[in-house]
Amino acid sequence: MNIQTPTRVESQLTDKGYVPVYTTNVIEQPWDTYSATDHEVWRTLFARQQELLVGRASDEFQRNQREMGMSSQAIPKFEEINKSLRSATGWELIGVEGLLPELTFFEHLANRRFPVTWWIRRPDQLDYLSEPDLFHDLFGHVPLLMNPVFADYMAAYGRGGVKAHGIAERAREAATTVIDGVAHVDEARALSLGSDALSNLTRLYWYTVEFGLIRQPDGLRIYGSGIVSSKGESIYSLESAAPNRIGFDLERIMRTRYRIDTYQKTYFVIDSYEQLMEATRPDFTPIYQNLSQLDSIPAGNVLDTDKVYQQGTGEGWLHDGDV
Ligand code: PHE
Ligand code: FE
Repeated sequence: MNIQTPTRVESQLTDKGYVPVYTTNVIEQPWDTYSATDHEVWRTLFARQQELLVGRASDEFQRNQREMGMSSQAIPKFEEINKSLRSATGWELIGVEGLLPELTFFEHLANRRFPVTWWIRRPDQLDYLSEPDLFHDLFGHVPLLMNPVFADYMAAYGRGGVKAHGIAERAREAATTVIDGVAHVDEARALSLGSDALSNLTRLYWYTVEFGLIRQPDGLRIYGSGIVSSKGESIYSLESAAPNRIGFDLERIMRTRYRIDTYQKTYFVIDSYEQLMEATRPDFTPIYQNLSQLDSIPAGNVLDTDKVYQQGTGEGWLHDGDV
């Protein structure tokens, strides 16, 4: 693949605020340039999370993490991880500078390439960081890519993203009239034609890949990468009485707003990775259209139709700021 210096092209809202988005260039992991401090940050975070995640992260996450040869010793080499990953599920890691434009990201996933930020946070950022770094991407996202069902889900998500991107673009085009050289967009019409498909899909990613819980025979466990890479949320998501814990429901999730600046108000619980795969197998085109008629749901609301594992007390919630 073509390797060049990435340039900043736009900004995008992430779980911690606006962060720069870079061009599509893939970078070889500059492993030799990591400092002793970088490796120390990895060691500290790895040891801390691994201990915390015993009995908290899903069995699948913990087993795969061991099998793919990640250890606390030093920052792993992507090439080493890729050996296990390629033979397990055909996925590979590619190094990137930071977030990618949406369509580029979807295309990588569809082709079983997972973009991993090459740099790691500083020692004063162990608990909080405004954008994804190597620890979040590698420790958080990569172990489950060893699981064949989850690996297929991620690739299907990428294909679904490419499709939703096309739907959203065509919807806006179809709702645009040019009068005297000035473009007018009929927003209501754009919406009914599916211009919101991408936000529906982003919510699904958020509440599964980033912040998902799974029900094991021995209790609820974490599989979402945004949780497993966070000390505070690893405890909060399972043990706090404040958040709701609600059974997975595809369309419900696609309507639900979320938090980017606090822990989640609601976590959604799957029964198995197969459930994710099966629920997302249908064509989403009519679903997007159907959802465009319905209001979004605030992050902390519980509906009569929800399968409630735990109704949160709401303690400590901020009243505005759902995105
Ligand atoms: N089935 C979805 C579609 O037709 C694609 C998808 C698969 C989306 C898996 C998310 C997860 O658009
Ligand atoms: Fe992430």
